Amino acid sequence: MVLVAPSILSADFSNLEKEVKALEKAGADMIHLDVMDGHFVPNLTFGVPVVKAIRKCTKLPLDVHLMVKNPKKMLEWFKNSGADILTIHAESSSNLEALIDQIKDYGLKAGVALNPSTDEMVIQKVLNKTDIIMVMSVNPGFGGQSFMPVALDKIKHIKKMIKKHNALIEVDGGINPLNAKDCVSAGADILVAGTAVFKGGNYQKNIESLR
Ligand code: DX5
Ligand code: ZN
Repeated sequence: MVLVAPSILSADFSNLEKEVKALEKAGADMIHLDVMDGHFVPNLTFGVPVVKAIRKCTKLPLDVHLMVKNPKKMLEWFKNSGADILTIHAESSSNLEALIDQIKDYGLKAGVALNPSTDEMVIQKVLNKTDIIMVMSVNPGFGGQSFMPVALDKIKHIKKMIKKHNALIEVDGGINPLNAKDCVSAGADILVAGTAVFKGGNYQKNIESLR
């Protein structure tokens, strides 16, 4: 069964504890945390203190998506914040391999995210050490954008590329019950969703309709 990772970007930030607990009860498989630094993307969200606070509210794995210009200097901060998965962008990492090694040395799962315009061949060299390949189906920066179908071919291609590896494919951005099916058929293992999970307030029903 496909895993669902709700993004708290669409949550009520004035009551994150309640939101995270509700997601856990609704059947979320992990909590997706969108860290944006205002440089790598034109938006600013939250950092280490919020991740630490969420760590105290749930036992679910914390999937930290680092949309930051300089992930190198931040990996240790987020390791100490209680993250389980640290995903860095291929576009912001001149030495991807070294950063992945660093994440793995911390004993965490390492993810690599690819913007819609980034060729998936850039991850060829690190496939053997990457736990999660995150295919962005929107340009990162904001929740509530429309799914870009170009992601589907990319997922299919990456699925072939990782045949001999254990990596999972995660897709992030604009996921709804309609395109979720296409993503799963293409080979996605984890669906990130903000808008579609929080819409209307019935998180359990929303998560189920994505699976
Ligand atoms: C975009 C983020 C996504 C996104 C998900 O930069 O990485 O996680 O906010 O939200 P929806 O599902 O609203 O696109
Ligand atoms: Zn994300």
